[in-house]
Amino acid sequence: GVEAKIAPSMLSSDFANLASEAQRMLDCGADWLHMDIMDGHFVPNLTIGAPVIESLRKHTKAYLDCHLMVTNPLDYVEPLGKAGASGFTFHVEVSRDNWGELVQRIKSKGMRPGVSLKPGTPIEEVYPLVEGEYPVEMVLVMTVEPGFGGQKFMPETMDKVRALRKKYPSLDIEVDGGLGPSTIDMAASAGANCIVAGSSVFGAPDSAQVISLMRKRVEE
Ligand code: DX5
Ligand code: ZN
Repeated sequence: GVEAKIAPSMLSSDFANLASEAQRMLDCGADWLHMDIMDGHFVPNLTIGAPVIESLRKHTKAYLDCHLMVTNPLDYVEPLGKAGASGFTFHVEVSRDNWGELVQRIKSKGMRPGVSLKPGTPIEEVYPLVEGEYPVEMVLVMTVEPGFGGQKFMPETMDKVRALRKKYPSLDIEVDGGLGPSTIDMAASAGANCIVAGSSVFGAPDSAQVISLMRKRVEE
């Protein structure tokens, strides 16, 4: 069976107070902390890298769910492994030729491999990575164009979640972008169990309530 994992996106936090923001989310009931790593090249935005993960790791034992929006994910495996990342989710769009090596290296550094795809990328592209000799353990279906928080959820991406869930009943399926109380039902009923949410959680007066509402919808 699949368990609900609610993962606040720290991209919406106050980066100047990352450790306390992370602790606040855990106190609010978060399962994972979603860390958006962007290189200013794969996406038109630049965020954080291994040094920040390493700093945060000194303050928390939480599962750090790293989402690599970068052109060369292989270059990040060693540094992120050393820094204490937990999950390493790369994009299929930049890893079409070397995902076997990439997955093997991620696992050898003690991290959990995942693959992500942009809204325009067909779901069939990730099937070989789920079924291969070195399988990924999570598929992250982007529900907005990657790069920025606060965008509008794209309901048409739910066809991909449904197709994945039908094919893989126990796979971790994560959704990311525009998730919150008004969109969680679409994602949960399509079969997503790992929910990333930035602006809806950090922008709410009661973050704990938003987290528990989303968990309930996934679990029912
Ligand atoms: C977008 C990032 C997301 C983003 C989600 O490229 O991958 O994780 O922070 O933020 P919201 O929930 O505000 O759409
Ligand atoms: Zn993300």
